[in-house]
Amino acid sequence: MWYGRRMANEPSPQAGVFPVVRPRRLRRTERLRRLVRETHLEPAQLVLPLFVRPGRGLAEAIGAMPGVRQWSVDRLAEVAGEAWDAGVRSIILFGIPESKDAAGSAAWRDDGIVQQALAELRRALPELVLITDVCLCEYTDHGHCGVLRDGEVLNDPTLELLAREAVSHARAGADIVAPSDMMDGRVGAIRSALDMAGFDHLPILSYAVKYASGLYGPFREAAESAPRSGDRRGYQMDPPNGREALRELALDLAEGADMVMVKPAGTNLDVLAAVRAACAVPVAAYQVSGEYAMIRAAAERGWIDEARVVDESLFAIRRAGADLILTYFATEAARRLKAGTTAV
Ligand code: PBG
Ligand code: ZN
Repeated sequence: MWYGRRMANEPSPQAGVFPVVRPRRLRRTERLRRLVRETHLEPAQLVLPLFVRPGRGLAEAIGAMPGVRQWSVDRLAEVAGEAWDAGVRSIILFGIPESKDAAGSAAWRDDGIVQQALAELRRALPELVLITDVCLCEYTDHGHCGVLRDGEVLNDPTLELLAREAVSHARAGADIVAPSDMMDGRVGAIRSALDMAGFDHLPILSYAVKYASGLYGPFREAAESAPRSGDRRGYQMDPPNGREALRELALDLAEGADMVMVKPAGTNLDVLAAVRAACAVPVAAYQVSGEYAMIRAAAERGWIDEARVVDESLFAIRRAGADLILTYFATEAARRLKAGTTAV
């Protein structure tokens, strides 16, 4: 790790140099702590995930994610506008479609839910960076991230569908597409489809390192995307694996990923640091729905101080190497960052 190497001019940690050396001297006041703070975070580095659903005038609560809602297109600008005012400059969209089928065809309809949301947000907040999650699990009736046959998600037939979805998002005005399915070869497939459709300038943010995590539970309620049978372990990464992250990273970079993501963030800070050290592209980390729910739930019971734990978690993710952080706390954290009132 980058801070694992000792500087040549520093005493070794074992040297008996107390009382001459006293690290507490630089911790005595807030002014001094701020002067020597090693890690900085800006509102513009936070990305707010948004769930969009059919209907009008809706802001539906999500049981396992208090404070997060499914918005109808006509009300999206309210929540995105609040984020913008707090200093957040990008959002990532997840769609809950009108209807689902085996292939997830609502994902690439020109008048699909995400496509409508893109048009509305572009109109309401022209400078907001619009990222779209490219996956099929929200659109398939079986809830898996690709084409299902005999309980197995087929890799190569899924690639073409993901490519269609990405191109459709690009046509509807996405600034960045973010494939989260974990099929092999999807970055390459999406890259060439985008290029052929005239979107060679459109960046891909790849969910390169995505673990099969229990922490996605609340999201699946929010996005109505839980698999009907089985789980996602056949395509998402096995949590005990670390080296494998570097394999996924290398493949996605070779296929043309412009940015890469590690997810979930909090349980994979070691992997995040390794990914940061191993590549030169911007690295994102996703503080996922379960991380949000855990902090929220404990705070609701008065067991922890929410602002403090949120800010601590975001600084930890940043310190481990994230250049940008996707988090459901984006707006509230950005407000504190902007006002200089962070709780750490
Ligand atoms: C879609 C997708 C998921 C998340 C982001 N994109 C769910 C999953 O893989 O099951 C999870 C985000 C979160 O938990 O906040 N594949
Ligand atoms: Zn999926």
